[in-house]
Amino acid sequence: MTAVRLAQIGVGQWGKNLLRNFAELADLRWICDADETRLAQFAPRYPNARATTSVEDVLAADDVDAIVIATPVPTHYELARRALEAGKHAFVEKPPAMRGAEMEELCELAEERGLVLMPGHLLLYHPGVQKLKELVESGELGDVLCVYGNRQNLGTIRTHENALWSLGVHDLSVVLYLLDEEPSELVAHGNAFLTPGVEDVVFCFLRFPSGRIAHMHLSWLDPHKMRKITVVGREKMAVFDDMELEHKITIYDKAPEQSTRTHGEWQTRTGAKVSPNIPNTEPLRLECEHFLALVRGEGDARRTTRDGLVVVRALEQLQASLEAVTA
Ligand SMILES: NC(=O)c1ccc[n+]([C@@H]2O[C@H](COP(=O)([O-])OP(=O)(O)OC[C@H]3O[C@@H](n4cnc5c(N)ncnc54)[C@H](O)[C@@H]3O)[C@@H](O)[C@H]2O)c1
Repeated sequence: MTAVRLAQIGVGQWGKNLLRNFAELADLRWICDADETRLAQFAPRYPNARATTSVEDVLAADDVDAIVIATPVPTHYELARRALEAGKHAFVEKPPAMRGAEMEELCELAEERGLVLMPGHLLLYHPGVQKLKELVESGELGDVLCVYGNRQNLGTIRTHENALWSLGVHDLSVVLYLLDEEPSELVAHGNAFLTPGVEDVVFCFLRFPSGRIAHMHLSWLDPHKMRKITVVGREKMAVFDDMELEHKITIYDKAPEQSTRTHGEWQTRTGAKVSPNIPNTEPLRLECEHFLALVRGEGDARRTTRDGLVVVRALEQLQASLEAVTA
């Protein structure tokens, strides 16, 4: 199997993790960062790759099949568009664009040119989230009624990006992936307590055409450190708790029941609580492998790109709702 020839633009706090994985899994040809000091820090670790501060060098390089973009969010759309226009597959950190229309343009460009455009929704590659998806799809939980996410902590306090864009993008990608449906109603409320214009606490509500609902509590101003997704089904309920070291998934055999014995009055059933084993594989590794597989023509590239599109559309609508309410 020929290794995918790869370039990476942006080797900052998060980019260095992508670089470590891609350097092991692919044929890393170029490292690019506008910051010379950063570049000088990484270039010696990857002597087979060429280092540059210019994006132009990477876009023009004949020896590059795919580009990994790990720069700040406002730069994603422009860089992704230019990568696709240059005929390169693109992995773009989340979210690849800040507006639905821009993301649609990127999707169309990728599809027209037969290129992969993969958004970096890391949580989708978490074995815990994969298990939730399996539980939903297999029908084990019964009809899914509602899903909610808790992503709270005290810190890290951001000053450029609000809690919706910084934290919510993760939960949103999971909620939309699990329900496999685009929401028809999206409402967000929040407040900027610390930095003017940057909401620290955000509550989001989503309603879907099927009648299912979802909620997300996003905050860096909270006493609890929570990284949790709860799925309530008609037959069973499941929780993915990423703060748990071993029992990341718990399935509760709990449900409401309406029995003829009680003349139709609601009662509840509480059965066993089960914590299935899930693989310990690093989600980032799986994410990088998925991108390279798509580039090699394996898997559903269109689906991966379209999953990213619904996330950007939802983010845009939630942001508009947040602004309308806080204005
Ligand atoms: N998936 C995750 O869990 C996760 C976690 C953290 C960050 N991220 C995402 O990763 C991306 C990068 O975040 P970060 O924390 O590494 O940011 P960062 O600021 O630490 O690094 C960004 C790097 O990009 C470089 N850069 C900026 N514009 C450039 C350009 N035009 N050309 C070349 N280089 C350029 C900067 O010099 C910097 O080194 C963001 O999109 C962020 O949302 C994802």
